[in-house]
Amino acid sequence: MSVLLKSFLILSFRARPLAVFPSILIPKSLPRNRRTRTLSSVSASTFQSPPPSVSPETPTPIPPLSDSLRWVSRTAYCGDLSNQDVGSRVRLCGWVALHRVHGGLTFFNLRDHTGIVQITSLPGEFPDAHEAIKDLRLEYVVAVDGFVRSRPSESVNKKMKTGSIEVAAEHVQILNAVRSKLPLLVTSADDANDFVKEEIRLRYRYLDLRRQQMNFNIMLRHRVVKLIRRYLEDVHNFVEIETPMLSRSTPEGARDYLVPSRIQPGTFYALPQSPQLFKQMLMVSGFDKYYQIARCFRDEDLRADRQPEFTQLDMEMAFIPLEDMLRLNEDLIRKVFLEIKGVQLPNPFPRLTYAEAMDRYGSDRPDIRFDLELKNVSNVFLDSPFRLFADTLKNGGIIKTICVPSGAKRFSNTALKKGDVYNEAIKSGAKGLPFLKVLDDGEVEGIPALVSSLGPTNREDFLRKCSAGPGDLILFAVGHQTSVNRTLDRLRVFLAHELGLVDHSRHSVLWVTDFPMFEWNDSEQRLEPLHHPFTAPNPEDMGDLSSARALAYDMVYDGVEIGGGSLRIYKREIQQKVLETIGISLEQAEDKFGYLLEALDMGAPPHGGIAYGLDRLVMLLADANSIRDVIAFPKTSTAQCALTRAPSKVDIQQLKDLSLQQAQ
Ligand code: AMO
Repeated sequence: MSVLLKSFLILSFRARPLAVFPSILIPKSLPRNRRTRTLSSVSASTFQSPPPSVSPETPTPIPPLSDSLRWVSRTAYCGDLSNQDVGSRVRLCGWVALHRVHGGLTFFNLRDHTGIVQITSLPGEFPDAHEAIKDLRLEYVVAVDGFVRSRPSESVNKKMKTGSIEVAAEHVQILNAVRSKLPLLVTSADDANDFVKEEIRLRYRYLDLRRQQMNFNIMLRHRVVKLIRRYLEDVHNFVEIETPMLSRSTPEGARDYLVPSRIQPGTFYALPQSPQLFKQMLMVSGFDKYYQIARCFRDEDLRADRQPEFTQLDMEMAFIPLEDMLRLNEDLIRKVFLEIKGVQLPNPFPRLTYAEAMDRYGSDRPDIRFDLELKNVSNVFLDSPFRLFADTLKNGGIIKTICVPSGAKRFSNTALKKGDVYNEAIKSGAKGLPFLKVLDDGEVEGIPALVSSLGPTNREDFLRKCSAGPGDLILFAVGHQTSVNRTLDRLRVFLAHELGLVDHSRHSVLWVTDFPMFEWNDSEQRLEPLHHPFTAPNPEDMGDLSSARALAYDMVYDGVEIGGGSLRIYKREIQQKVLETIGISLEQAEDKFGYLLEALDMGAPPHGGIAYGLDRLVMLLADANSIRDVIAFPKTSTAQCALTRAPSKVDIQQLKDLSLQQAQ
């Protein structure tokens, strides 16, 4: 130890003589050999002198600066105490959660990250502690020395984990007071989502995170990540490898966040939308099983399950066929749901091809906890006298229905012409909502021209196709396949929730497979990849790449896409062909992805992978409504950080350094 440091320590000790708590007196009622509970060995030197006394009427005065910072060490955690600790002396540190003065008795709840315990004091027992407790306010930070005792049977609180015991305070130190008005109540605000504006919660996120529910969500997230790491590393020998944040843009379908380079004026890095190409190159390097808890950035419109900055569990494996890939991932997700939520997911997971999913549910991420399947009834109306339907079919459109059991009486005609159901259809882009009601005698009622267009034979055929019977309501969507599916998907989910058809005891997990490689982008008049352009086409479909199925798979849970991946193209010529199919010339391909094409030519093994939206997975495990509730510091719906107020303007000099100009 340096001479300087030694003399500093000696001086510090002389300046502040060690003071063990003066009030550590053992009441007569306690056994003499009462244990002292220790978290680790706590030396006497960690004990501090008691806080300055304060008058009960005035708020805590600001202590002299020389005495204002203290570091105390604790011997126990609030939520860990139980009957087994009765008789122990403990030092606890935390926040005042609830504070009451009741006749002669003062008590408060003390909260730390493990839970809450009740602290009591009687004037006759420890007068100093009693006085100090009287002055506490909510969210003060305190250190409490006391002993654990059983609560009298009439005051046992069964709702509290530590409800059968309390800590009798011998000494209470205020480590920090609250000097501003609290913008939200921490303790009683477990349902804060309902009455505190999210704006306020995000602005004062440190307080919001102090709430029990948010603490639970963040701790749950930690447990999920820990479990995933242990499973992938210890059971399957995956290695975690970090990939760059400052890189070139990877096409994942969203806009990039760009970072200007100072050293290369006029050029930009892109923050990764995913580590896709790096993980593929790690396979070329021979790392057989890679994973990463990877931060990704996408500049896209935000929703409850979308953030501009989010976290993926990103994985890639070499020499693995499709079935092994799906099995390993099912095992992982089954383990997570079982250990974190106690839910046993099916083995194997059900599968739907993309074509089936779109046909039956109108969505590539269907929630199958309820039926309400869509039916294609185009054939019934091929030569229909009902012009709207017949013309739609002639123009290449389709007609699909959804049958709402017992919906005929549940929804009035007015509601269907301008109520919630109608509004949902309109929000999805539909121009109207044709409907028919099946009457008790099997006759149908609705738009007269539509009713009369169905002769008795046709009607029977139509009702059978719709699986409709007396009392049911049939809703139609008419037009281009994409818009028809979009409308009925939206109506299906809306109606299931509205009519209470979602069976919350069921867990709808499934794979959607056989996605098409490409979809037509009307505005850009070109094919674009449904996943990303590195996805391998199904070898059976190589004859016509433009309509090929991809070796891609999405995992869907309760209607949320939690993960997606594919086997990859690992040969240069096929990669070039795919890039060409989406309109990327050879030159452009060399310029943008030359490094990948080169790598494919230097011994790239067959490989594939997947990425899960970790935030979405945790949201579902925590039964939260938004991924914002499982991210410590999320962005607002306008992509801002309410706490730090990012993004913000920067100093003009910073812009000059980057050869940039401030936007007007
Ligand atoms: P994909 O783009 O499907 O695949 O992303 C994988 C998963 O990430 C989650 N996700 C998001 N979560 C929150 N906010 C967002 N903005 C957001 N965008 C996506 C979803 C999604 O399933 N490179 C490929 C994976 C691969 O092929 O291995 C990729 O990123 O849960």
